[in-house]
Amino acid sequence: MAVIANNCPDIRVTLVDLNEERINNWNNADLSKLPVYENGLSDLVKINRNKNLFFTTNVQKSISEADIIFISVNTPTKIKGVGAGYASDLKWIESSARTIAKYAKGQTIIVEKSTVPVRTAELIRTILKSSVEKSGQYSSKKFSVLSSPEFLAEGTAIKDLQNPDRVLIGGDDNYAIEQLSLLYQKWIPKNKIFVTNLWSSELSKLTANAFLAQRISSINAISALCEETGADVREVTKAIGADTRIGNKFLNAGPGFGGSCFQKDLLNMIYLCRYYKLDEVANYWEEVLKINKWQKKRISKLIVEKLFGTVATKKLIILGFAFKSNTNDTRESPAISIARDLIENGANLYIHDPKVSESQIAMILGGDNADKDSAEGSWQFSEDLEKDCKNSDAIILLTEWEDYLKVNWEKISKLMRKPSWLFDTRGIINQEDLVGTDLNFWKIGKSFFKTNENI
Ligand SMILES: NC(=O)c1ccc[n+]([C@@H]2O[C@H](COP(=O)([O-])OP(=O)(O)OC[C@H]3O[C@@H](n4cnc5c(N)ncnc54)[C@H](O)[C@@H]3O)[C@@H](O)[C@H]2O)c1
Repeated sequence: MAVIANNCPDIRVTLVDLNEERINNWNNADLSKLPVYENGLSDLVKINRNKNLFFTTNVQKSISEADIIFISVNTPTKIKGVGAGYASDLKWIESSARTIAKYAKGQTIIVEKSTVPVRTAELIRTILKSSVEKSGQYSSKKFSVLSSPEFLAEGTAIKDLQNPDRVLIGGDDNYAIEQLSLLYQKWIPKNKIFVTNLWSSELSKLTANAFLAQRISSINAISALCEETGADVREVTKAIGADTRIGNKFLNAGPGFGGSCFQKDLLNMIYLCRYYKLDEVANYWEEVLKINKWQKKRISKLIVEKLFGTVATKKLIILGFAFKSNTNDTRESPAISIARDLIENGANLYIHDPKVSESQIAMILGGDNADKDSAEGSWQFSEDLEKDCKNSDAIILLTEWEDYLKVNWEKISKLMRKPSWLFDTRGIINQEDLVGTDLNFWKIGKSFFKTNENI
């Protein structure tokens, strides 16, 4: 919405949320308190806030004044009831549709921006239609439902929104499609605006995320094979990425994908396939999730094994808790599962991240237990890496923040207990940067110890 406001100064954009704390933070004069960290976002908020970009909890008034409403509410995986663990929970979509049905006036275009299962637009339409019928034949209410899923990637969201590869508009009402297209055309070339039917648009979003997640699981599977065979996954990636049929993007081996979308959208896709009795298709996509889970487990197990089979009471430094760099989002971050495994094995973790706060980690891992740092199985927040690395046994790099490329390994390694380890699960550290240190180094997708002779 900040990008729309910035590109369309003559359009009034109002962001409504039921969560008062979030809205207060969006309105906070201190821009470091905005609920979402993205490069360039605070600048856009600063320039446009209270000019044509507003944040409010006044849902009723905002809906009644709107010509176009983007439903962008959460659609997480259901945790109970029918479809639990797979299907998307659409209760927030449904309640948004009911609120819109109640308060909208005149002609209103509803845009599904949330990621939803195929045919969700039908649910929204049914709710809106019944409200029009209820208000009688002289009702001034008229609704059109469009799908326009969001393809941005966290970490590069503003750039992606400003210059998208494409935007999709799914629908069958030409007037509504034209209105939304004209809005996007304020900054996006017309040839990047694809118009499809509603269901293709909804399914394209799920399919895009399924394909992206599949690429990560594919290269992660190969990373394990590289470690066993003496190959280097970065060399393999370079070789296959040069093939234009494959392409070189989204091929970085790592500790597994995270974020709020890939797992949720894959589970949703698997659920849909099973619903339509396409079990083979469901099983195919389920393997992508299994490899992701396995990759995280394999890494925590490997760390324990390298540290003489036990991490109990050992001091381990975790570099990065966000699910990727340049975001403060920790939802489904691989760091969560790896940290939990290590704590369960008795390790005392010192967790550092440039953008994730201590309270955010505490909500995930449980209360800060800094006072028990000599006991087994604890975590605490690290603000001063040099101080915390003292007497540590291992450093585990879990998020590819650029800051971690600037670490002075020679200095750090001298502070650590011997034998000391560096585990690079993102494959961003070069062995040459460790010259002058006595660190044992493990890098994802690279075997340091095996040669052809002992395969
Ligand atoms: N985060 C991403 O990078 C991304 C990318 C593409 C698509 N999506 C999709 O966008 C949707 C939202 O994702 P998110 O990460 O922003 O989720 P989120 O949970 O961070 O935000 C959703 C917000 O909706 C609010 N909300 C819920 N019901 C409401 C209602 N009835 N009225 C007003 N506000 C309401 C919640 O309070 C919350 O602040 C999901 O469907 C997601 O799959 C997200």
